[in-house]
Amino acid sequence: MATLAIIGGTGFTRLPDLTVTRREMVKTPFGAPSCPLVFGELGGTPVAFLARHGSSHRIPPHRINYRANLWALQSVGIERVIAVGAVGGIATDCVTGAIVVPDQIIDYTHGRDRTYFDGGDDPVRHIDFTEPYDPSLRRALIDAAGEIADLTIVDGGCYGAMEGPRLETAAEIRRLAADGCTVVGMTGMPEAALARELDLAYASLAVVVNPAAGTDGRRVDIDAMPDAIERGMNSAREVIARALPAASAR
Ligand code: HPA
Repeated sequence: MATLAIIGGTGFTRLPDLTVTRREMVKTPFGAPSCPLVFGELGGTPVAFLARHGSSHRIPPHRINYRANLWALQSVGIERVIAVGAVGGIATDCVTGAIVVPDQIIDYTHGRDRTYFDGGDDPVRHIDFTEPYDPSLRRALIDAAGEIADLTIVDGGCYGAMEGPRLETAAEIRRLAADGCTVVGMTGMPEAALARELDLAYASLAVVVNPAAGTDGRRVDIDAMPDAIERGMNSAREVIARALPAASAR
């Protein structure tokens, strides 16, 4: 049975090498997840896969039902989650094509359903979130990425989670940089916090697909993004395939 799940973001709506055994649309108290969970094996390791934006990439970051997604995964026995997402690079080492495994996150999103402790019958739990990402999952990803020639891998960094769906102004990126953010994306939160509320081990593969607004003195080149997304997500798939044995071991 799969205990490890992969949540795929933009450009990562499928895992082509997954030998699919079944699909299941899970019902949750929070509504429907983005799409059916896909179960199968990748290189002999059982995994579950969920496309964060839906199978046909129609759900924008602020409309994703993060609570249903994480709840659905936990309800089928998932204990560990590798979350893949496209980001803009802010720090100079976070170049387009690099894969960043952040160790911190700052939440700038607003208006999203961000907790399971939302005033129902259960007592409120304040989770510890000092270290938002699971160290052993991060290690498995970094070690696997280190085996791949010509891949720029950044060990650590701070993910700035913005509301989107528009990209940022140059001033917003300057503010994020001053706050210590090294990459910027739109889906890192509340996903990471919800995973922690459910006691799921969670790590992020942040795939840099553009220089963040203003960092290279130009506008964001939207036309260059699809290509960068495709190449970056192929790298992410390779990292995951190599990381799986270690990542799924407890
Ligand atoms: N900003 C926010 N989210 C993103 C970006 C960006 O520049 N690139 C990819 N996702």
